[in-house]
Amino acid sequence: MKIMLNGIHLAYSDQGHGEPLVFLHAFPLHRAMWEAQVQAFAEAFRVITIDLRGFGESDAPIWRYSIEQFADDVHALLDHLSIPRATFVGLSMGGYTLLALYRKYRNQIQALVLADTRAEADSEEVRSGRMAMAQTAYHQGMDAIAEIMIPKLLGSTSLASRPNVVQTVRAMIARNQPSGIIGALIAMADRPDSTALLREITCPTLVIVGEEDIATPPAEVKRMADQIPGARLEVIPSAGHASNLEQPERFNQALLSFLQTMGKS
Ligand code: MLT
Repeated sequence: MKIMLNGIHLAYSDQGHGEPLVFLHAFPLHRAMWEAQVQAFAEAFRVITIDLRGFGESDAPIWRYSIEQFADDVHALLDHLSIPRATFVGLSMGGYTLLALYRKYRNQIQALVLADTRAEADSEEVRSGRMAMAQTAYHQGMDAIAEIMIPKLLGSTSLASRPNVVQTVRAMIARNQPSGIIGALIAMADRPDSTALLREITCPTLVIVGEEDIATPPAEVKRMADQIPGARLEVIPSAGHASNLEQPERFNQALLSFLQTMGKS
């Protein structure tokens, strides 16, 4: 489905009935990365997955992008769907978006799941890397982006022994357009530091990390979880940064038991 909001067509899926569960994808993927979660949770929940602007089937204009704009789009979509409050799951860039959503629209957030993500802003070195990747996207396209990103997204177990997962991620990256990828790289490079916000989070929060994640390593993610009052941490074995894709059953189990502690299943 698509809706026109904030000047673009935003693509999303809305499946199942019950308490709303909203999933926000990583860079440079799109909403199809949540397929295993949609299958598992749409029986008991209303599951919304969104292609953030610039990704998947959403428009990817050659214009300004920001993480705050992603959060504004999510907020506007939920208003359109008459969902005043929801549980949100965001992985990596999806997590950056959730922190922006919390900063601006915290009343809309019932509970948070922050997976394989961080609260810190980019270092200068990371910003330079993003600029170089933007040039690569412009000059060489999505195949070159896949070559750079697959070793960062997937853990050593998946890279060595799950060619189907590698292929799925490659195909997902190929669906994107350079304009959206470049816009998102600039958005991530410009995002503010959210470390101070962590202490202000009062909703139930689950933090997830793949034990083989090299993009947001477990020790770093644990430090983030330690700063969120009452947050629970789950480490997913044999998974890297894309923990929900690499170990869907374990990821789903962690999410389900969190939802159960809130009386939501
Ligand atoms: C992601 O998975 O969304 C990216 O690793 C985020 C980033 O590049 O900071």
